[in-house]
Parts: sequence; structure tokens; C-alpha cells
Amino acid sequence: MTSYDVLAEVYEWLISDAKSTPPEFAAAFADVTCLLPPNAQVLDCSCGTGQLAVGLAGLGMRVVATDASEAMVRRTEELSEEFKASVRTVRADWQELPDHFDDGTFDMVFCVGNSLHHAAGARGRLAALESMSRLLRRGGRLVLTSRTWELVRARGSRLDISDRLVRRNGRDAMVVYRWEIAPHWEEEHHIEIAVAQVDAAGPVVVRSELLSCWPYRHDELEAELHRVGLRTERSTFNPEAENYLVVASKILTTGSQPLGRAARLLSADFLPSSAMPVRFRPSAHSPSRSTNPDRDTRPLAAP
Ligand SMILES: C[S@@+](CC[C@H](N)C(=O)[O-])C[C@H]1O[C@@H](n2cnc3c(N)ncnc32)[C@H](O)[C@@H]1O
Repeated sequence: MTSYDVLAEVYEWLISDAKSTPPEFAAAFADVTCLLPPNAQVLDCSCGTGQLAVGLAGLGMRVVATDASEAMVRRTEELSEEFKASVRTVRADWQELPDHFDDGTFDMVFCVGNSLHHAAGARGRLAALESMSRLLRRGGRLVLTSRTWELVRARGSRLDISDRLVRRNGRDAMVVYRWEIAPHWEEEHHIEIAVAQVDAAGPVVVRSELLSCWPYRHDELEAELHRVGLRTERSTFNPEAENYLVVASKILTTGSQPLGRAARLLSADFLPSSAMPVRFRPSAHSPSRSTNPDRDTRPLAAP
């Protein structure tokens, strides 16, 4: 089960130092955001604790942040409030996105930070990508970052323990990843992540969560992007690097086409029971907290 509701509390310990503030996180995507028109409408559809969304809003973009985890959405609202950023938030699974937004709404959709592997298998992933694609205007771009699963699977099941304490909010924590690599690519894999906060004067406080994930190869991802009407413009894939970035642009309107419907129906099994069609309404920002996270550049890259 992938919920992130526990990890949301300690997510800043999972984000790299280099992306720990909203401006730094957004700056990491400067080479794609520079392609956007002024006042662009953008969606971060797995916003986590909101560093990217808040950073993009700080650049003057109209930003919507969504996530399947209620706790993550709440943290994004808190961060928005802290930075006085205008970010609309919605709790939504990828497959629910078309229930909230009209087709062609966004100039750019972000799905970054090792999120897509949480889509349940090839069908779930295709349905998720289909949702993201239909929300893009023609010529709009999907920006996706991914763990290099070719590398992860080759290493097999293992335990990764951070080689140093990570300091956030004046507290140190040890971060541990336990990887359960299934025999076959298409099977459900697991990553258990534990953040153990250590305090010289007090007890060690551990928060952990077992996350499900379904790996994919880079060439599978490219084929899937193409199936949902996206053309890869750029990929930094390198089989020996931990992570890669893909930028794909919208070439077709997939909204009401058979593929879109089929992909969503095929994946209905994976919809949470709480999935109710709710039209999007701008939300007020809520209050916040501090610090932040990321993982793309860390050796112990997050979920
Ligand atoms: C590794 S975190 C990345 C968060 C953020 N993008 C970042 O880079 O810090 C993965 C995020 O994907 C979200 N997520 C997982 N499954 C999802 C789904 N089916 N639909 C939408 N979001 C999902 C999780 O709740 C979590 O916030």
C-alpha cells in the first residue's frame, strides 16, 4: 500500500540538500520552465510537500498542486502559506485528475521525484500518463523524472543506510531504504523507508512506511508516452545514472478518444474507493511549516 501519510511528516529528511527550498527546487527545472509563456498554467500532479509547486508560484506561474496523499496536500498548503505563494491544491490520484480539470488546461505538467513508479503496473501507469496528457494543451509538455530501474533491479534486494546523518529543522536523522526487488519486472516491488530521528537528549523516533512500486524500463516509458499522444523531446536517460528526466510534448488531443477511455476503465481496479468525481474549486492556501526535501541527486534517492 502506498500512502505517504506517515512519510509526509518527515519528508524533508528525504529531500536532497540541493533542492531543500522552493526556489532551489524550481531552479532545478529552469531549462524547461524557460520554455513557458509568461503567466503559464502549470500542474504538479505528485506535489509531495510542495517545494516545486511553491517554487514555481514564486516565479509568477499559476500553479495547481495535486497528490494522492491527503497529508502531502496538507503540507503543500502549509508551505504555500509560509511562502505566501498562490498555489491551488487538490487531493487527487492521477486517474482522478480529469474529474477535476478540463482537457487542455495546462501548459506544463510535472510528475517528478520518483513518483510514477507508484502507478500500479503497466495499465495503471498508462492510465496515469493518459490523465496527464489530456490535461495538457496541444504543444504543452510533460516533465517527468524517474529512477533508473534498470540499475535498481540489477542491484537486487538490499538495505541502504545513509552514510551520514541528515539535518533538517535542527534535528538529525538516519535514513534507511529497504528494497524488495521481485523476480520479474512486471511484479509489484516494495521500498520500505525509515527515517530515524536521533536526539542526543532523547529517544530515537522512527517513522517508516512500506511503499509499493512497479518498475519500468526507459524504452517502455517512451512507448507509453507515445501511446498517450506525447512525443519525447528530450531524455537524459543513461543506464549508469541513478535518475533521468524526460520532457515530452503533446501532439494529439487524447481526451475523449478510445485509448483514454480504455486505459481508465482497465485501471478502474486501482481507483481508491474514495474516488468521487469532484469538480475543481480553487482552494484557499493554508498554513505552513518549514524545510523541504528531494531526492533526485542523492545516492539514497527517495521513494
Ligand atoms: C517520492 S514522492 C515525490 C514528491 C515530489 N514530487 C518531490 O519530488 O518531492 C511521490 C509522491 O507521489 C504521490 N503519489 C503516489 N501515488 C500517487 C498517485 N496514484 N496519484 C497521485 N500521486 C501519487 C505520493 O503521495 C508522493 O507525494
